[in-house]
Amino acid sequence: MYSPLRIVAVFCYLAGNVVADTASDLAGALAQYPSLSTLRQLVNQEPKLINTLFGNNKNFTVLAPSNEAFTQYTADNHRQLADVGAELLSNTLSYHILAGGLPYARFDSLGARGLTVPTLLTGELYNNRSAGVSLAASFGPGASGQVVLIQKNATDGYVQVQASQQQHVNLTGLDKQWSGGYIHMVDKIFDLPKNCTKTMEDTDGLGTLYNALEDSGAYGPIDTMANVTCLGPNDEAFNEAGNPQQRFNTSETNWMIRSHVIREPLYPDQIQNGMVLQTLRNTTINITVNGDHIFFNNARVQNTALTNNGVIYVLDKILARDPVPVQSGDPTSTSPSPSPTNEAAKPSASKHLSLAFILGGMFALL
Ligand SMILES: *[C@@H]1O[C@H](CO)[C@@H](O)[C@H](O)[C@H]1NC(C)=O
Ligand SMILES: *[C@@H]1O[C@H](CO)[C@@H](O)[C@H](O)[C@H]1NC(C)=O
Ligand SMILES: *[C@@H]1O[C@H](CO)[C@@H](O)[C@H](O)[C@H]1NC(C)=O
Ligand SMILES: *[C@@H]1O[C@H](CO)[C@@H](O)[C@H](O)[C@H]1NC(C)=O
Ligand SMILES: *[C@@H]1O[C@H](CO)[C@@H](O)[C@H](O)[C@H]1NC(C)=O
Ligand SMILES: *[C@@H]1O[C@H](CO)[C@@H](O)[C@H](O)[C@H]1NC(C)=O
Ligand SMILES: *[C@@H]1O[C@H](CO)[C@@H](O)[C@H](O)[C@H]1NC(C)=O
Ligand SMILES: *[C@@H]1O[C@H](CO)[C@@H](O)[C@H](O)[C@H]1NC(C)=O
Ligand SMILES: *[C@@H]1O[C@H](CO)[C@@H](O)[C@H](O)[C@H]1NC(C)=O
Repeated sequence: MYSPLRIVAVFCYLAGNVVADTASDLAGALAQYPSLSTLRQLVNQEPKLINTLFGNNKNFTVLAPSNEAFTQYTADNHRQLADVGAELLSNTLSYHILAGGLPYARFDSLGARGLTVPTLLTGELYNNRSAGVSLAASFGPGASGQVVLIQKNATDGYVQVQASQQQHVNLTGLDKQWSGGYIHMVDKIFDLPKNCTKTMEDTDGLGTLYNALEDSGAYGPIDTMANVTCLGPNDEAFNEAGNPQQRFNTSETNWMIRSHVIREPLYPDQIQNGMVLQTLRNTTINITVNGDHIFFNNARVQNTALTNNGVIYVLDKILARDPVPVQSGDPTSTSPSPSPTNEAAKPSASKHLSLAFILGGMFALL
């Protein structure tokens, strides 16, 4: 026989289970931190959205934007995050949720190349890429959302999150455990990733390359291709190679793109010494890792930017040309063209070397 008391107890347990959903768990966990009160308020206002984002899984890391981050967002965007509309709100929040439970200790011990972590941000517009083998191995095959890079600055010891483009955001380890995993604090709201050319436009040192793409109107291919690593020679690289004012036509720009794009998103912590990669032209690029420095052939990586379809490495040189793949019936593939980086390395040669000539020669071999 069940006593009435016992039935009431069972009822209360069931009701409690319904009420204690992810959103209220999260709000409860955030309540302990006065500097996260704006986020808590948002979670309380949007329980349905929060529950949908998390689903039934329980192993996440929430990178909780501080109250200052929300204030900054409002100043930058002239409206509050709560007012941007359901879709943008959902996408923005999902980019702050890491698809794995990561205590601060995981970040504190990171080397120079950091850790690439998938988030819950999905959909072609912001995530036209998919998890590679090594990401899937670390975070599970379901962890296919757009990534952030987490790095520790060896000089000042700050842990930073690199989100869209080159945005670097400070992370404060809270190690707050809750039913959905961990919570840490970040001091900015992440921008959503943009396409390659838009990212180049906003990336330090890629002005010449961006102008070339814009002038030639040859954006299309890299912007709408899924799964890429783009190698972007910086302004000095173009200067060194010849004439930075040179305007590029579409064919030349296509050459540039095809020999500097790799058809897989290769994030910094996945790069290994001795890797050989294939470009869109089927030429190969050798990777060398020397201490903290990464080289694609003889060009050194200066910087990294995240795009919706992969990653851009800013390089200090235009890539030296590999032997051209054999193309049957190509009347122009006869004499070898000069190699931009080798020539540019000779101080006396650079004056005689016009970029138009280099690219023209290369284009003939496309
Ligand atoms: C939670 O995620 C982390 C990071 O992906 C993983 O190492 C850990 O094994 C996961 N824990 C559980 C219980 O799935
Ligand atoms: C993207 O590249 C990864 C390897 O890095 C591969 O596993 C995946 O299938 C690719 N996705 C698409 C859509 O090509
Ligand atoms: C690391 O910190 C130092 C000192 O604050 C700063 O000058 C440097 O730019 C930082 N490096 C990176 C990669 O953010
Ligand atoms: C990170 O925090 C430190 C100390 O408050 C500050 O000096 C630095 O500028 C911050 N970095 C970023 C990218 O906000
Ligand atoms: C790239 O993004 C920019 C700005 O977000 C947009 O104006 C442009 O049309 C996009 N390019 C392509 C090819 O979709
Ligand atoms: C994503 O990539 C596919 C090609 O794989 C392309 O057709 C599509 O336009 C791309 N989407 C965006 C938003 O760039
Ligand atoms: C590169 O090789 C693939 C097959 O491996 C082929 O389909 C493609 O047409 C080649 N591209 C060029 C530019 O030669
Ligand atoms: C890449 O390395 C291979 C040998 O591993 C070599 O044959 C090739 O010339 C190298 N390519 C470049 C561009 O250095
Ligand atoms: C683009 O420029 C190169 C070098 O100036 C030239 O050889 C080529 O014919 C041009 N292509 C077009 C389609 O104008």
